[in-house]
Amino acid sequence: MNGLRSLFLSAACLLALTLAAQPAEFRPGEEWPDTNGEHINAHGGAVLFHEGVYYWYGENRPDRGFTTEVGVEVYSSTDLYRWKDEGVALAVSAEEGSPIEKGCIMERPKVVYNPKTRQFVMLFHLELKGRGYEAARVGFAVSDSPTGPFRFLRSLRPNAGRWPVEFKRADVRCAEKQNPADYKDWWTPEWRTAIEKGMFTARDRKGGQMSRDMTVYVDDDGKAYHIFSSEDNLTLHLAELTDDFLDYTGRYTRIAPGGQNEAPTVFKRNGMYWLITSGCTGWAPNQARMFCAPSLWGPWKQLPSPFEGEGAERTFGGQGTYVLKVPGHTDGFVFMADVWNPSHLRRSRHIWLPIAFRADGTPFIPWRDRWTLEDLK
Ligand code: DGJ
Repeated sequence: MNGLRSLFLSAACLLALTLAAQPAEFRPGEEWPDTNGEHINAHGGAVLFHEGVYYWYGENRPDRGFTTEVGVEVYSSTDLYRWKDEGVALAVSAEEGSPIEKGCIMERPKVVYNPKTRQFVMLFHLELKGRGYEAARVGFAVSDSPTGPFRFLRSLRPNAGRWPVEFKRADVRCAEKQNPADYKDWWTPEWRTAIEKGMFTARDRKGGQMSRDMTVYVDDDGKAYHIFSSEDNLTLHLAELTDDFLDYTGRYTRIAPGGQNEAPTVFKRNGMYWLITSGCTGWAPNQARMFCAPSLWGPWKQLPSPFEGEGAERTFGGQGTYVLKVPGHTDGFVFMADVWNPSHLRRSRHIWLPIAFRADGTPFIPWRDRWTLEDLK
């Protein structure tokens, strides 16, 4: 009995020491150890706040290679600084031919809670095993508990058979007239015009729109939206989800046609919607872009990158993944980004930075070596 007691006491001391060793501050771009001392392996992720606990979901990446060998990892925290690894929220399947077979690619998972169904719903970018990035699908999974296990439901390409809400009859006719075979060369002025007019929207309408980098945004009225890079990563789509968050209503809009935006992150402040994205340069960082709109349905206006100071032209080496609204702060918005390390994806670092606002409401994000939640308004 005494032996058991001292074992328990030493384990408790070890945990207390580990927690004490973890700083109660954010150190953007540095290694971020979890409560076991392992660098947090949750990439392209997002944070959900539920009943007093934060859950950080992200890609569990192997040290070598680009495919998904484990699944989506989830961590929990009560203070946003110290994270406990809760294990695999959504596991890959061992079954041959499963859409989520080990060796597929699961990216950018986002989890939202649906109060009507009391389910946690996960959407993620899914690429099928052995097919590179050509499948361009979205996966849906659900769980009754925030830490999972999530049950994979299905994968699809959104909005098959639908046109964007802004397309009038003449726009549909014009999009249908554009034929990709007529444009051997991409990036010519004629090709750009055809893309803007919806040549690829029309091309993919039957089977559904391509869906790669993505986020999910739940508005104040409880409606959820899937925002994703579509049309060969040329154009963002914002699509309304059904009340259970498990399907599409068929209403969607195109954002910045032909603008090549990836890594969308969305937040709302004082009635204005903000969208921060990246360009498309694979794993290499590039300059972020920013858009704003009075409604999710637009019109979206492009503004300069919100990042400021040295390294801002490459988003401080990071690529956005989520904007977290921190509860209890009127102006507490945190921009989360990944510093991709393609040689060792597992070791990719995390950049979390507070978003500041100018007097006219425009967001800006300067670099900080260290910061705490006290710095939020
Ligand atoms: C950039 C995307 O944002 C990432 O999620 C990942 O898909 C890489 N491209 C792959 O090159």
